[in-house]
Amino acid sequence: MPLPYNQRTCYCGDVGSHLIGQAVLLTGWVHNRRDHGGIFFIDLRDREGLVQLKFDPEIDPKCHELAATLKAEYCIAVRGEVVPRPEGLVNPTMKTGEVEINVREIDILSTSETPKFEIADDIDTNEEIRLRYRYLDLRRPVLQKSLITRHRITKAIRDYFEREGFIEIETPFLTKSTPEGARDYLVPSRIQPGTFYALPQSPQLFKQLLMMSGFDRYMQIVRCFRDEDLRADRQPEFTQLDVEMSFVQPEDVLRTIESCLARVMRVIHEVDIATPFPRMTYQQSMDEYGIDRPDTRYDLRIKDVNDIVTKLDFKIFTSAIAAGGVVRCIRVPGGAEMTRKQTDTLADDLRGIGAGGLPLVKIVDGDGGKPACQTGIAKFFTPETTAELVAATRAEVGDIIFFAADSVANVCKYLSWLREVVAKRRGLIPAGKWNFLWVTDFPMFMYDEQERRHFAMHHPFTAPLDEDIPLLETDPAKCRAKAYDVVLNGIELGGGSIRIHRREVQEKVFKLLELTPEEQQLKFGFLLEALKYGPPPHGGIALGLDRIAMLLTGLDNIRDTISFPKTARAVCLLTQAPSPVAREQLDELGLRHK
Ligand code: AMO
Repeated sequence: MPLPYNQRTCYCGDVGSHLIGQAVLLTGWVHNRRDHGGIFFIDLRDREGLVQLKFDPEIDPKCHELAATLKAEYCIAVRGEVVPRPEGLVNPTMKTGEVEINVREIDILSTSETPKFEIADDIDTNEEIRLRYRYLDLRRPVLQKSLITRHRITKAIRDYFEREGFIEIETPFLTKSTPEGARDYLVPSRIQPGTFYALPQSPQLFKQLLMMSGFDRYMQIVRCFRDEDLRADRQPEFTQLDVEMSFVQPEDVLRTIESCLARVMRVIHEVDIATPFPRMTYQQSMDEYGIDRPDTRYDLRIKDVNDIVTKLDFKIFTSAIAAGGVVRCIRVPGGAEMTRKQTDTLADDLRGIGAGGLPLVKIVDGDGGKPACQTGIAKFFTPETTAELVAATRAEVGDIIFFAADSVANVCKYLSWLREVVAKRRGLIPAGKWNFLWVTDFPMFMYDEQERRHFAMHHPFTAPLDEDIPLLETDPAKCRAKAYDVVLNGIELGGGSIRIHRREVQEKVFKLLELTPEEQQLKFGFLLEALKYGPPPHGGIALGLDRIAMLLTGLDNIRDTISFPKTARAVCLLTQAPSPVAREQLDELGLRHK
């Protein structure tokens, strides 16, 4: 009689001493097999963990015979009795380590070829192979845990928003372009040859229209599509927690998201995150951290030293300032112990991202017990300028100070890079810290020197700060937005804004972005039209669910939080998508490959 595998009594990982003396029916995959003096021990694995099976010829010779044929990744069902492991053989590192199963019946449900790599967490198999055999990769406990945690995060989020009176509403995938700064994925229409849908970069315009329809509090866990350069925290299709609310100020959106994230942290990590989260303006973030997503788990803050270094006879500094640039620095406590080799490597790496070099000084004990500069560009510092530098940076003997001199944008780029790399290389990032924070008051626009025009820093539907509305006419570059980003440990989790709900302001912003009235009509006519019919004031935010899952599971790329991700070249190695299509299919769509 075959074993009734549909009557499994529990998961392998859930067998424990509470079941001692009971019969269990388990299903799973053979993780490994060991032979101890004629007795076989097999670890059986399912999504909840491993349990040890024991095949003793004295208990059941037939079972033992079958066990001899088992190989890794065979899929089996077994029935047996849960017994305590003999004294001294308890495995405290294993959840089920106090017990084992005396197997009396076994069924081989299917056999397996030898997998291309071992199903274990600590393997260094190349990622291409893992993605090619993703279904095997996903058997690894670390990935099982990741996808299960992701499910729990999504559930906690949905439960939270349900309690807060939000309604989950689906929005279309076959739609018109939504500008979020990436290229669109296009889908050709068969019925209207020569026309295309765009897959949504986000549901931005639909969620705004839902506010105009009166839904008041919307949320959606939704797939978005962006054809952009991929990195560890970017995929071409990814998932957002998308939120929109009517009759709100920024404060209301911030509070909603803070409570949601605090709830998720409680559910997943059983920690209490203090709310409200710290807040920082965009300007402060750029000045002190050189980046708009600061990692505040460590200090190493940037300091402007223009006033001091103009007094030095050091051409690199004075010419940067004369060209309208700045000189800023970071002080690394205890950094004077860094060797020449270490600082040279840093300088070389910095050159790799465009810097000219890495001016530095070490702070040492000088004459009369006063701190003095040593090595690097120390010779340009007088006792007076040294004293000013030490006071401005609060440097102490034993510290090192790194400088950058260039345009503001480049100095921010170099010093934010340096902050992060030095913190990592010197082990300054404390473990177990969850530093959430808000960055607010972003500029409305950024100016592209090459294209000589303004771009929306967030998206073109973002409202300006009330007091900055006149700047739209006079000095748009200074105009700040009612926009906010939420950051966790230096990674942007999400961003949002209060939206423009007055048609004339929206038209003004479109005009500043150099959209002609015809282009405005063509691209966003439906939005401008909708703004005629009593639009409520509204605002919202979207958070990257893959990034939340990555940070909360302690992984360092979002691929491992996604069941079937794509490579950096946007390829699915498992299905080999994208792939060519038949000539007839192209003909049907009225397309020809150039
Ligand atoms: P934004 O473009 O800032 O805002 O996107 C919000 C969040 O989505 C995540 N994200 C990504 N995650 C993985 N791969 C990608 N390619 C990717 N691109 C973005 C990030 C990001 O912070 N409609 C607006 C939100 C709003 O204004 O309400 C929007 O999409 O975590």
